[in-house]
Amino acid sequence: MKRTQIKNLSEKKGEEVLIQGWVDVKRDQGKMAFFDFRDASGKVQGVVFGKHEVLEQAKELRPEWVVSVYGKVQERNDKQAKAYREALEEGKEKPFFNKDVELEITGFEILNKAETPVFEITESTQEINEEVRLKHRYLDLRTERMQKNIRMRAKTAKLLRDLLEEEDFIEIETPVLTKSTPEGARDYVVPSRLTPHHFYALPQSPQQYKQLLMSAGMERYFQFAKCMRDEDLRGDRQPEFTQLDMEMSFVTEEDIMALNEKLLINLVEKLYPEKRIQQIPFPRISYKEAMEKYGNDRPDIREDKNDPNLLAFVWVVDFPFFEKTADSDDPQAQGEWTFTHNPFSLSKPEYIKDLKAGKNIENIIAAQYDIVLNGYEIGGGSIRAHDPEILRSILRILGHSDEKIEENFGHMLKALGSGTPLHGGIAWGFDRLMMILQNEKTIRELIAFPKNGEGREPMMESPSKITQTQLDELHIQLKELPKKTE
Ligand code: AMO
Repeated sequence: MKRTQIKNLSEKKGEEVLIQGWVDVKRDQGKMAFFDFRDASGKVQGVVFGKHEVLEQAKELRPEWVVSVYGKVQERNDKQAKAYREALEEGKEKPFFNKDVELEITGFEILNKAETPVFEITESTQEINEEVRLKHRYLDLRTERMQKNIRMRAKTAKLLRDLLEEEDFIEIETPVLTKSTPEGARDYVVPSRLTPHHFYALPQSPQQYKQLLMSAGMERYFQFAKCMRDEDLRGDRQPEFTQLDMEMSFVTEEDIMALNEKLLINLVEKLYPEKRIQQIPFPRISYKEAMEKYGNDRPDIREDKNDPNLLAFVWVVDFPFFEKTADSDDPQAQGEWTFTHNPFSLSKPEYIKDLKAGKNIENIIAAQYDIVLNGYEIGGGSIRAHDPEILRSILRILGHSDEKIEENFGHMLKALGSGTPLHGGIAWGFDRLMMILQNEKTIRELIAFPKNGEGREPMMESPSKITQTQLDELHIQLKELPKKTE
């Protein structure tokens, strides 16, 4: 017999079917046994009565065992079934638990037994110790809430891919083994075996590659890009995270912001119709005003902070290009100026003269924008310097010597000088956006296998030591650790 997915059982009323999935709940009532069964598509109740053999077998089953269940699909007529059908008639989304029907069980086959789970799968695991959840992530991901989070993430990515394709974007993968790109964080590095004593850097973002793709005439690029940053972790920060990264040629700031607004509005309307966007077009606030009024550059402008379905998008604009710092964020620079977003941005047109001359630095305003949602920065981007002389001047302001500029950015300067169109882009923090849309408190709830607060993944136990042979192949010798961090 062919397997029927639980979500499709309503179409088979009166028929004999086979379902395959997990025992979610078991209620043994002596002469009868009730079950909830679960597969990826839904849950359904099953009942065994009468048949002695089947009942005996039923008594053996435990939660999380994987089973084949044979049975007849019966329409339910209780209160819950009525409520379920009424909800569907009102056009509500199909609930995960199919209460329209139940299975009159005629037989089982045990496909795999399971140890008693370390926490309840039938309830939200929000209150369970997170280290335990991460250690047993395959169990945690079985819960309805986590299944929903991961599935909505996939659905959202699919919709965005479709919308971007309609706008003539193409998805292009860029390297993960690459060279350091200054985005303000520390790099993760990977030693090279073939070029000993040399290291790849994992990308903090595809920034340089996406600009090089504009130089390559692709005009509209996007990518769901994994980005790696070695920085202190928080609820909305992971060492590896996903950006929806975009870059466009022949555009202005206004074009990029308009397109992104359209995407976000479309996404909310199509996949989150229960949510309300506070203001369309999205309001704008200057960096200066945000700092003065809210004390930060990611203001939460919600009218009602108790409403889980309110989305208050706001653009933050007019960022200063440079800021003074004792310790530059840019690991390659020595100077006292650092960039606020990235060194590849352009200023607003009226400051280009100053930018080229390296004058009036503290007053230069960048052609840069952040998109903020409910107090979180969910994206940021800029119009780029497409003139190699401007980029050179910016790098000089940041304190790079001409020699270092050639060494680290020579390829960018060459590409810009080889017929590169005006271009600009943006990257969304996709995990953050999904966290807010799913009303979760950390991005870890939206990532199948996240790292914990110390940057470790407790299930696979990464990072981990490597063998002496591996070290030898890489010509790496480990130094003694200072006592306290051992
Ligand atoms: P930026 O550094 O602002 O820009 O990153 C874009 C967005 O990515 C999200 N983000 C993170 N999410 C989770 N964990 C992290 N550690 C983390 N760091 C950043 C934020 C942020 O707004 N190349 C530029 C984009 C561009 O100019 O086009 C860039 O990476 O939501």
